[in-house]
Amino acid sequence: MPVTAVIGTQWGDEGKGKVVDYLAERAKFVVRFQGGNNAGHTIVVDGQTYKLHLLPSGVVSGKAGIIGNGCVVDPFVLVQEIRQLQERGLRFDLHLSDRAHLILPYHSAVDLAEEAAKGGAKVGTTGRGIGPCYADKASRAGIRAGDLLHPKRLQEKLALNVAAKNALLKALGAKQVLDAKAIEEQLQAVIPALKPYIVDTVKLLHDAVEAEEHILLEGAQGVMLDIDHGTYPYVTSSATASGGMCSGSGLAPKDIGDVVGVVKAYTTRVGSGPFPTELSLEEGVGKHMSTVGHEVGTTTGRKRRCGWLDLVVVNHAVRLCGVTHLAVTKMDVLSNVGTVKVCIAYQMPDGRKITHVPSDPDEFAAVKPVYQEFDGWGDLGDGSWESMPKEAREFLQFMREKTGAQIKLVGIGPARDQTVLR
Ligand code: GDP
Ligand code: IMO
Ligand code: MG
Repeated sequence: MPVTAVIGTQWGDEGKGKVVDYLAERAKFVVRFQGGNNAGHTIVVDGQTYKLHLLPSGVVSGKAGIIGNGCVVDPFVLVQEIRQLQERGLRFDLHLSDRAHLILPYHSAVDLAEEAAKGGAKVGTTGRGIGPCYADKASRAGIRAGDLLHPKRLQEKLALNVAAKNALLKALGAKQVLDAKAIEEQLQAVIPALKPYIVDTVKLLHDAVEAEEHILLEGAQGVMLDIDHGTYPYVTSSATASGGMCSGSGLAPKDIGDVVGVVKAYTTRVGSGPFPTELSLEEGVGKHMSTVGHEVGTTTGRKRRCGWLDLVVVNHAVRLCGVTHLAVTKMDVLSNVGTVKVCIAYQMPDGRKITHVPSDPDEFAAVKPVYQEFDGWGDLGDGSWESMPKEAREFLQFMREKTGAQIKLVGIGPARDQTVLR
């Protein structure tokens, strides 16, 4: 089957960018199918670091990128990102779905105002307008990339949306008042740059499948941030699990072959919400993960919360997405920490042990992790599987047994060549 999908199995930032870049070699198209510039995907190659928010990670190696219909696209951010990469000498083809919804200035204004109104119950969003844009899509008020090609339609939709959003902002207590005309003028300034990219990407992908071209799908966020299957309401607003792969690209379930689940060797999370294996960042292994792992958000610069690997969470993702292979990243960060712990079950307040993610948020917040301990490892060797210490291989073998998925690759550093292929 020509399509391989790469998805995050935890709360995002698993290292999807690096894995997609590594696997892009055979691909004709690398496709983002959900999310927007809430994502931050890092690729390190030949001493250069690229942080991509909207462009698919394959563009770094010159592959054609597709921003699929399931994405939400801030047109100003997109133009800036394309320019920045071109200035750094990268050359790539790009196709932006005419069905993708646009994030406009009122979406980020509403995002910030809603978060402020929630106070202590805030989600801790990236403030990029993701939720309000998907809300407009669902309520059929959204403006799509294709509308940029129809000036009159764009003007009418902007007028309606800006009026509605100004009323909402006022109700939320925000001082900001937006002007449809001003937004239209800002858009007119970027439309010429975007126009060449806007196409029906669904047709493009169907043709590619028919021609048996290899396609790589690049997930954003992680399964625990999925709008249905994550820790609602502390989630993002898109389908980060299986559903998004098809609805967000136009591909059919039968087209999808291998599903590579990216797993960080420990767990991180940005923003609010339950996190059973969380450790303190002030001391011990939590501090080590945070500092040695440079666990700072790629998009917002916030410190990521850190904790031990949670295989209950990873297995939730494996089942939801049909993960066939694992790409385990950041094994090097756990070098020399001593004993390594892995959560294999949850203990409920009544003493019962469970091995699934409870659907109820209060129940999930109350579980205590049940750990299995592993001997730690030191240096990870020269990049071959055989040179990896026995303890590290045992840890990976345990993940293989517990998930039923094969280990495809292992990250031993941020750079493209710091990858062990199994
Ligand atoms: P993504 O959102 O899933 O693409 O992940 P991010 O790019 O937000 O965060 C992952 C971070 O870990 C980035 O800084 C990567 O360069 C880095 N990284 C990826 N794989 C490895 C690895 O195997 N070892 C180390 N030390 N860093 C890695
Ligand atoms: P990548 O693709 C980690 C988190 C935010 C917040 C919640 C909702 O780099 O893995 P949103 O702005 O989407 O409405 O915020 O989701 N979040 C991410 N956390 N990695 C990401 O993307 C994220 N994208 C959103 O921190 O908790
Ligand atoms: Mg990230």
